[in-house]
Amino acid sequence: MSENLFPSAHPLVAHKLTQLRDRTTDFRRFRSIVDELAMILAYEATRDLPLRAVTVQTPLTITQGVKMDARIGLVPILRAGLGMVDGMLDLLPQAEVWHLGFYRDEHTLQPVIYYNKLPTDLSKHHCFVLDPMLATGGSALAAVDILKERGVMKIKFVGLLAAPEGIAALHRKHPDVMIHVAIIDERLTTEADADAGFPPGFIWPGLGDAGDRQFGTIRD
Ligand code: PRP
Repeated sequence: MSENLFPSAHPLVAHKLTQLRDRTTDFRRFRSIVDELAMILAYEATRDLPLRAVTVQTPLTITQGVKMDARIGLVPILRAGLGMVDGMLDLLPQAEVWHLGFYRDEHTLQPVIYYNKLPTDLSKHHCFVLDPMLATGGSALAAVDILKERGVMKIKFVGLLAAPEGIAALHRKHPDVMIHVAIIDERLTTEADADAGFPPGFIWPGLGDAGDRQFGTIRD
């Protein structure tokens, strides 16, 4: 396993993830579980953020403390990444949020960008790319490409489910990007999985389409 790959070992994550997989979980509950998982993963993915020393006046005396010394950019990949923003902001209220919109072309599975709201000056930020699903890795890879073109040096991917294919693709091109996920699933679907009702390129066993399940839309 890559040294920059961090599947969660937390029992609460495993418990909530099972609820997320359950096809009977409705979209309101699905959304709140995504939110809760994002907050737990935020805790895990921020353990190496820099601090600087400060003094603090307690009710009794003056003592030493620390203050976070990092500018944070959260980069949710629309649509499904939106559901992870609030959970991350619960722990990182000072973070900026920059949206990137991609959809996967159904036939080629290649990401197609349709929205980019990145600011121009972001070279000093620690960036967290948010997307519940790392499937082929195409969307995450394209997001990291764009961030690096803008000069961002410190980038982490935070997701819920990852396929081995997506992890390999992201790390092949960007081995420096740490991947924090709730779990690594078995594989991507192929033509042979047509009976499951999903086209090739979905995470197996997975949870279906994370965007549709969060927002209550139905796949056609
Ligand atoms: C899904 C998912 C990721 C992407 C992952 O988005 O939310 O963004 O696919 O696949 P990849 O790793 O193969 O690129 P989708 O295209 O379904 O758009 P949506 O979030 O708007 O539903």
